[in-house]
Amino acid sequence: METKILPWALDGVALGSRVLEIGPGPGITTDLICSRVDQLTCVEIDAALAKSLSRRLDGRNVTVLNEDATAMSFPDASFDAAVSFTMLHHVPSAELQDRLLAEVARVLRPGATFAGTDSLYSRIFGLLHLFDTMVVVDPKSFPDRLQAAGFANVQVDVGARAFRFRATKA
Ligand SMILES: C[S@@+](CC[C@H](N)C(=O)[O-])C[C@H]1O[C@@H](n2cnc3c(N)ncnc32)[C@H](O)[C@@H]1O
Repeated sequence: METKILPWALDGVALGSRVLEIGPGPGITTDLICSRVDQLTCVEIDAALAKSLSRRLDGRNVTVLNEDATAMSFPDASFDAAVSFTMLHHVPSAELQDRLLAEVARVLRPGATFAGTDSLYSRIFGLLHLFDTMVVVDPKSFPDRLQAAGFANVQVDVGARAFRFRATKA
């Protein structure tokens, strides 16, 4: 994550000061991003993960909320950027994924960036998710879905095992 995925995902992306991270999980990505921004807010749907991350980063510039990113509590235009890494395929339907994208657009200020990565399907990836949610995002249709959610300047690049995306709130 530190040497390959994150540098690729955020290459050329200016995050700004108030940043939202969707689905931090145990916080591997959170640890790497919080030093680059003034205030990082994380939204994690798993209560146990949210609690342990919140405890671990107590006193740092990170706020962790146990919320569902398809229905967030923030006012409109609260953030300068949003990021999500390897989490979209954990959202259990394309409809809910689209709702999440629209929610991210709502809480970003106009012109703010949404950037991140998600995994491509492979047999190994499928096996790893045998007893877990896996609704893989097709990078070919993802630009249209981001635009429908309220984003412009969409860029999606496909790598060996993952794709990266960046877009700006229209
Ligand atoms: C595979 S983990 C990725 C963790 C981290 N971003 C990384 O790359 O190491 C995906 C995380 O997204 C969270 N998640 C799934 N659906 C979510 C939702 N609707 N709202 C917020 N978090 C969600 C899961 O609970 C999980 O912690």
